[in-house]
Amino acid sequence: MRAIVIDKPDSMVWTEVPDPTPGDGEVIVQITAAAVNRADVLQRQGQYPPPRGASPYPGLECSGVISATGPGVGDHRPGERVCALLAGGGYAEQVAVPAGQLLPVPLGMSVQESAALPEVACTVWSNVVDIARLRKGETLLVHGGGGGIGTFAIQLGKAMGARVVATARAEKHDRLKALGADVTIDYTTDDFTKESADVILDIMGAKYLDRNIQALKPNGRIAIIGMQGGRKGELDLGALMAKRGAISATTLRARPIAEKTRIVQGVRRHVWPLVDAGAIRPVVHTTMPMAEAMKAHRLMDSSDHLGKILLLP
Ligand SMILES: NC(=O)c1ccc[n+]([C@@H]2O[C@H](COP(=O)([O-])OP(=O)(O)OC[C@H]3O[C@@H](n4cnc5c(N)ncnc54)[C@H](OP(=O)(O)O)[C@@H]3O)[C@@H](O)[C@H]2O)c1
Repeated sequence: MRAIVIDKPDSMVWTEVPDPTPGDGEVIVQITAAAVNRADVLQRQGQYPPPRGASPYPGLECSGVISATGPGVGDHRPGERVCALLAGGGYAEQVAVPAGQLLPVPLGMSVQESAALPEVACTVWSNVVDIARLRKGETLLVHGGGGGIGTFAIQLGKAMGARVVATARAEKHDRLKALGADVTIDYTTDDFTKESADVILDIMGAKYLDRNIQALKPNGRIAIIGMQGGRKGELDLGALMAKRGAISATTLRARPIAEKTRIVQGVRRHVWPLVDAGAIRPVVHTTMPMAEAMKAHRLMDSSDHLGKILLLP
């Protein structure tokens, strides 16, 4: 098969590599599409090595058709259309996937489009719902509302009956309102702390610690999933205590397969019905041939995209 090999930090080549074989509890997926994530850019730059045992090729989510199965995969069969959460290896023609990380292609959706969902659905659901316990009627503040994560979080928040506030550059605001954002804030010119939220999904990390606490309602929860504004910051515990607030910080990729399986099951039970019903749709900015992965990474670096970028082998 062919896969994207990172041969040096600024170069990726689409080249012949050995085919994967299914281990215990794994299936092989013949990939239709893979989606680009910020973590792939960091991996290319040598700053985010794959966890032990994971594929060395980038790519944290894909969709396709099962072409082979190992022992212990339950009812999964060759020919089944799936999308999947991966620890790596999506930028390829085939990938080995633990059966617990497979999701069915949602109703009325192409196999290709469904590649835009697994990583964002699992990240957003596990942080905003499973950890931060967003409830109907609460306010959710989504930073980076125009990104892959943000466009999904806006839709999930709305579908759950929350009021949604999103930060993004002004040119993205109309699209974010169409996705369900009640309020949009241009973080380049405006102060987002003029709004207050029960749950904040944060991708900025250190740079936003103070302002996120300022924007928190009493008993609010901040779920940090990114460090685009730095990893080390000073935390004003007095301010957090005064809000009776909580902060969580997680990554999805390095979690054990059993935990990912639990998250995927939660997404299937609680999020997939909303996707099947059309309340949440994948937001695909563009598709590119896999061989142009470098161009896709440059687009992500520019942040000129809205939603997800898909790569087609
Ligand atoms: N912890 C986890 O498990 C996990 C999983 C997946 C992703 N993530 C993280 O989540 C973040 C988003 O991922 P993604 O795939 O959605 O990336 P993405 O599509 O590139 O979205 C990031 C967005 O951030 C916006 N942005 C940049 N600076 C901002 C600021 N100061 N305030 C608000 N928005 C700002 C950019 O849009 P504009 O500037 O144009 O508005 C960009 O669209 C990344 O940091 C990624 O590493 C974490």
